Amino acid sequence: MANSRAFPPMNDPSNINEPKSVPAIWADTRASGFTMASDPLTCSLLRTLAASKPSGRFLELGSGTGLSTAWLLDGMDSESHLTTVDKDESFLTILKRHLGADPRLNVVCADGDNFLRSLRGEHFDFIFADTWTGKYRLLDDALELLNPAGLYVIDDMLPQANWPEGHAAKVASLIATLEQLEGFRVTKLSWASGVVIATKR
Ligand SMILES: C[S@@+](CC[C@H](N)C(=O)[O-])C[C@H]1O[C@@H](n2cnc3c(N)ncnc32)[C@H](O)[C@@H]1O
Repeated sequence: MANSRAFPPMNDPSNINEPKSVPAIWADTRASGFTMASDPLTCSLLRTLAASKPSGRFLELGSGTGLSTAWLLDGMDSESHLTTVDKDESFLTILKRHLGADPRLNVVCADGDNFLRSLRGEHFDFIFADTWTGKYRLLDDALELLNPAGLYVIDDMLPQANWPEGHAAKVASLIATLEQLEGFRVTKLSWASGVVIATKR
């Protein structure tokens, strides 16, 4: 067993080596007033998981200003492709300013529900569902799109001060659904903003 006195304690946020694009995206994000960006720790986990899917097809539901997108791209190899969708063009303008030149990225401005339905029959190796679509709505549709061994990831599952009334019950219901999910191996992490990872068997 390691001698805890001989080593500094593990400090999750230190030295996470954020992608080069992230400081500038954060600056624009703060200036825009966007307050829904994913936790950097969650983003770091996304990048690590993304690196496990070489030549992967990635789907992000809820792009925001591109912070999680930047981390996903930083984990993906050159043969992988990411489609990200958001309904708000002003957020996507920031994303495209910083990441739009990446040939692996397809940015879609659309309603998430309509877009997810339009993907029926397609398959992905990784889905990060960071909006209502594919999480609180159309969960089955999103999971149906996953390839075997594909990863489904969500965050914001721990209580937050900005949750509207009634949201805690929705979160509890979603967790209960995921805990019983057939055909998946599911892990809950009470860490960062609260993460759930499900792998399709
Ligand atoms: C939690 S934020 C995404 C944060 C982003 N992934 C990041 O890490 O910065 C949720 C996003 O979902 C988008 N959104 C909300 N409802 C939507 C819908 N019906 N269709 C598409 N996007 C939607 C919002 O515009 C917002 O950018």
